[in-house]
Amino acid sequence: MGYRRLGKTGLVLSEVSLGGHGSLGLENRIEVLERAAELGMNYLDTNITDECELYGKALGGNRKNWHIGFASWPQKLTEEYEKELSKQRFFNEIDGRLKHYKTDMLDIWRPVGATWGEGQTAIPTMLMVSHRVLDMVVEVFEKVRRQGKIRWLGFSAHNPKLFHRVLNEYPQFSVIIFPYLFLTEELGGNSLLKLAKDKDVGVIGLKPFGAGTTFGIKPSELHGKVDKNAHILVKKMLREPRISAVIPGVNTTEQLEENVKGSYEGDKQLTLKEKEAVRRCAENYHANLTEEYQWLRNWETV
Ligand SMILES: NC(=O)c1ccc[n+]([C@@H]2O[C@H](COP(=O)([O-])OP(=O)(O)OC[C@H]3O[C@@H](n4cnc5c(N)ncnc54)[C@H](OP(=O)(O)O)[C@@H]3O)[C@@H](O)[C@H]2O)c1
Repeated sequence: MGYRRLGKTGLVLSEVSLGGHGSLGLENRIEVLERAAELGMNYLDTNITDECELYGKALGGNRKNWHIGFASWPQKLTEEYEKELSKQRFFNEIDGRLKHYKTDMLDIWRPVGATWGEGQTAIPTMLMVSHRVLDMVVEVFEKVRRQGKIRWLGFSAHNPKLFHRVLNEYPQFSVIIFPYLFLTEELGGNSLLKLAKDKDVGVIGLKPFGAGTTFGIKPSELHGKVDKNAHILVKKMLREPRISAVIPGVNTTEQLEENVKGSYEGDKQLTLKEKEAVRRCAENYHANLTEEYQWLRNWETV
């Protein structure tokens, strides 16, 4: 497994890390976490509250070598949800996650700027975050950091413009987490990857397989099926040195093992056969992308 520095946090993460989605229950997560650690993974990224509770149970109070990042769920930083936000609620949720993981300190708090769910229903009010909310997040972070509860502040969203606002105006953010797909290419000029590099902000790529649409129509009826092209897609993503880690969600240890293989050949160019596999996967992704996930197309360049 290859490891990369996560920008100014100085954390060194496994370049293939573990996304929180895809659980098939507690026994399954215990197995996946154990195998992931054996394969050299050391970063776990969790989002929804129930997910944090489940991973907390699966780890059983033994953190081992895992660095853990978590979102602000159920609080969303979005415009529609803004009226529900308060500093006290953020503090309560952070304390709740510490309890779930049975720990005094977690590594990355990465409030989530774009997501649907209770209190956030419409796409037009989902994509921007106001200065008022960003100021509140920074204030909450400064306090929990001083208390020793959280080490680093991250940010996750689905709107590239929003990341430019955060990186240019708020030096308190050390990590950004956004959809980095296997087919994502760099946008010349105003690239978010370049900006993150200039600011020494770490980048973590989520939804590398387009929420799994690459491998079939979602939601999949065949949870846990292994696609032998997955490691080629991971290898391609890791050709981008400004990405510190990709975090595919996995249902099974077999999927995990397949994905991690992408790290073993990270220093090699893609062969012609591999390029052809990527092309076929891109065709699948475009054919299977549901209405709900059309916004992923905004992330085909970054
Ligand atoms: N805003 C946010 O903060 C946010 C939003 C979304 C996601 N995330 C994070 O990003 C992570 C990744 O996103 P994601 O899980 O939604 O999408 P993804 O990583 O693009 O796709 C994951 C799905 O792909 C399939 N898969 C994985 N490896 C495979 C393999 N080797 N062969 C065949 N199928 C394979 C699995 O589904 P099936 O077996 O069912 O096909 C799996 O659930 C999440 O786990 C989460 O931690 C964060």
